[in-house]
Amino acid sequence: MINILFVCLGNICRSPMAEAVMRDLIENAKLNDKIKVDSAATSSWHIGEPPHRGTQDKLREYGISMTGMQSRQLHKRDFEQFDYIIGMDENNIRNIYTMLGNPDSPKIFRFLDLTDHRMDVPDPYYTGDFQETYDLVLEGCRALLDKIKHEQKL
Ligand code: 4NP
Repeated sequence: MINILFVCLGNICRSPMAEAVMRDLIENAKLNDKIKVDSAATSSWHIGEPPHRGTQDKLREYGISMTGMQSRQLHKRDFEQFDYIIGMDENNIRNIYTMLGNPDSPKIFRFLDLTDHRMDVPDPYYTGDFQETYDLVLEGCRALLDKIKHEQKL
């Protein structure tokens, strides 16, 4: 099994959206017996909470399931359990390294570095623009699925 973990600050806006969109792409590609997806926060601020209303509305608009999703914090053991650990922005990447004990590993990278944008995913908690988040997340998830298919020969 290939395990993917998306990480953001609160695990209520960007990373749960990426988790849900990625799972949808994986199901459509009939790869759900090969790839699993989860998401986590660098902060402890929203532990146990469902996705933010803006993320829920956007996923519902695009017919993407988010059943059972709730915020959890990143754990040190996630480093062994996940094959791809993906931060939504540069701050997340710095915090992931610190929280995981500064491992030297190419499995940790910034999400949109997989695309031509090579930028942070702007935080809709502050911008309020969940459509921008969705568009960037979809593009990033497509690029991630291509990378995984290529690397894992799927
Ligand atoms: P996220 O957005 O990291 O995409 O889940 C945020 C959620 C909550 C807060 C900040 C960003 N907050 O300050 O509580």
